[in-house]
Parts: sequence; C-alpha cells; structure tokens
Amino acid sequence: MIRQKLIAGNWKMHKTTTQAIQFANDFIAPGINQFKKTEVCVCVPFVHLHALENIFTQNDIKLGAQNVYFEQEGAFTGEISCGMLADAGVKYVIVGHSERRALFAETDDMINKKLRAAFNSALNPILCVGENLEQRGSGAAQETVGRQLEAALRDIGITGVQRLTVAYEPIWAIGTGRTAIPNQVREMCAFIRSKIEALYDGRAAAKTRCIYGGSVNPVTARDIVGNSDVDGALVGGASLKPDVFFNIVKAVNSQD
Ligand code: 13P
Repeated sequence: MIRQKLIAGNWKMHKTTTQAIQFANDFIAPGINQFKKTEVCVCVPFVHLHALENIFTQNDIKLGAQNVYFEQEGAFTGEISCGMLADAGVKYVIVGHSERRALFAETDDMINKKLRAAFNSALNPILCVGENLEQRGSGAAQETVGRQLEAALRDIGITGVQRLTVAYEPIWAIGTGRTAIPNQVREMCAFIRSKIEALYDGRAAAKTRCIYGGSVNPVTARDIVGNSDVDGALVGGASLKPDVFFNIVKAVNSQD
C-alpha cells in the first residue's frame, strides 16, 4: 500500500500571530504547493489558527493543533474541544507529545480519551510515542513503545485506527540535535506497524502512517524518510524557519 508522506511542523510555544503570518508568506512564496507528493501540515498554537486558516487552505497546507481536550464542552477552564478545532479548520491534532506527558502530567488514560474524541470528530490525530535514553540503552525501546500503543489504542475501533498517524519520537532525539539513525527509525516504524497488525489486522496496519520526530533537518529528513516504512516527519525546531522547513518538504518530496 502506498501511503502519502506527511511532513508536519510542530511549532510548540513559539511565534506571535504577526510572526506566524510572516512565516506563512515566506514558506509559500518559493512555491510550496509544487510538492504534490507530500502532504504538509503545521501544528500551531491555538491563537494563530484563525489567522492562518485562509492562507493555508489556499496553498494546500493542512492546519494542525498541538493538543485537544476530550470532553465536548463544559466547565473545563482553559481547554479546547475537538469540535472547536474542527470548526476552526484544523485537520490534524498532536496527541500525547512527550512534553505533554512529562511537563503536564498527561497519562495514558487521558491520551486514550483524546484519541477517542478525535476519532469521533473530523480531526486526524498524530499520536506521539517514544522511549527515553535509559529505555533505549537497556534494550527496552520496543517494549516501551508497544506499551504506549496498547494503552493509547484501548477500545479504539478499526475505522478510527485507519485514520491514525503514529509519530515515533524518541525522547533523547527531541531538541538535542541527535537524530536517530535511519535504521533505528525504520526498525521502530516496522515494529509499530506490526503492533497495529497484532491489535487490529493487516489492512489497518497498512493504512496507518508512521512518521519520525527528533532533530529532523533537511539532510536527515532525506535519509530517514527515504525508507518505505517511514511515512514522513514531525519537525520541531526546524519547522520554525520557513526556508529550512521548505527544504525538508523539498528533500522528502524529491524521493522516488
Ligand atoms: P525537534 O525537531 O526540535 O527535535 O522537536 C521534535 C518534536 O518534538 C516534534 O514534535
């Protein structure tokens, strides 16, 4: 099965709205929509969604969010629902990023609820999984990712999982400049797909996208995403600079 590659930026907590609009103009100007083989998404802070919706839609860039709450509405001060995001034009939402797990005490149970809420809406979740350095060092990387997947996907139906993108983001590679080597990424993406096959079936596994995140730049993107098991990248720091992010999309799109 051919899965379209996805290059998604994760701006984290960066940029004012003025800077976000400037980014959009600079990213689009050299012709980002010439890269038809690759789907491009930018997951921005909530406050920029409205300002970016039109310019992104016109240029076939998908609008993404970095978090969502699982309830539909109610007394949940500070939270945002799937319905609100979909209404704002959001197509993709990151769920369970390691920074949210570590800094905001997101549990597997919350991540499972968020995934269910996303699948009950029009949003396509990008589920983040990944081991820390100690787990990698002790040979427990696959076991860790397997556990995260089982917990996140508990009672998620097969129709949902076919819309899922899993982002393998080893914690030791995030923001460190230390990109995982292509073989580590290929192995883990193949493992993730085999896990989905075990939990569901081969058809669901073949449809699930598995992308990589962790210090991706234009050079590493080409090497890592060059493999048929790896369906794209989730890009943090390098997605903040329009020319660098453009070159990542270009590098991935120019592969056979
Ligand atoms: P960096 O690309 O800055 O390492 O961040 C990766 C990440 O966390 C994307 O979600």
